[in-house]
Amino acid sequence: MKALLSHRKSLVALFIVVLAILLVSCAPNASEPIISSQLGTVLAAREAGQEVSAMPTATPVLLTALSAEQIYAGLPADLRAAIDTADPARAQQIALANGCLGCHSLDPNQTMTGPTWYHLGDTAAMRVPNESPAEYLHQSIVAPGAYVVPNFPNGVMPQDFGSRLSTQELADLIAFLLEQHQ
Ligand code: HEC
Repeated sequence: MKALLSHRKSLVALFIVVLAILLVSCAPNASEPIISSQLGTVLAAREAGQEVSAMPTATPVLLTALSAEQIYAGLPADLRAAIDTADPARAQQIALANGCLGCHSLDPNQTMTGPTWYHLGDTAAMRVPNESPAEYLHQSIVAPGAYVVPNFPNGVMPQDFGSRLSTQELADLIAFLLEQHQ
């Protein structure tokens, strides 16, 4: 009886050892790249012999996460003041009268000459690092070539809106475009 018990004990011990070995061999290697949208880049860099450390992922910024100060940072003072009296309904008239809506649509599924204005408030918050969404929109209207949206042509959007639109009209447009967010 004693012999049988100790035989059983050693079987249990053996089982535990095998289990431990299995667990250790299955544990993930922390230095391996994880499956992510950047895996391709990580593997390519590694193949090219470059040292790859953890790559930062661009975190999406939603406009609603920003304070008013962050949204309007960098705007010229007169434009910033005009935003307080901006009228989004007037902006739609301005966009129509100036041909904006011939190239831009609020519908994300409609392919036009220019990028969609669907959720543009959020897009503007993410386009250019250290540029506030309002500042980005202002720049996009008065100097479209300063940042060219990927996969869209440069030089197609008229370059002279800065002189054709009044400060209040620019403010109306920017306020309206900022309203297009999640
Ligand atoms: C003839 C076509 C055309 C007209 C008219 C036009 N745009 Fe554009 N717009 C474009 C194109 C093409 C781009 C993308 C290339 C670039 O970034 O310059 C663009 C980019 C933009 C962007 C940046 C969008 C983004 O996703 O980052 C804004 C904002 C914008 N336009 C606003 C306007 C406003 C406001 C008007 C009217 C006052 C206007 N556009 C008139 C063609 C046009």
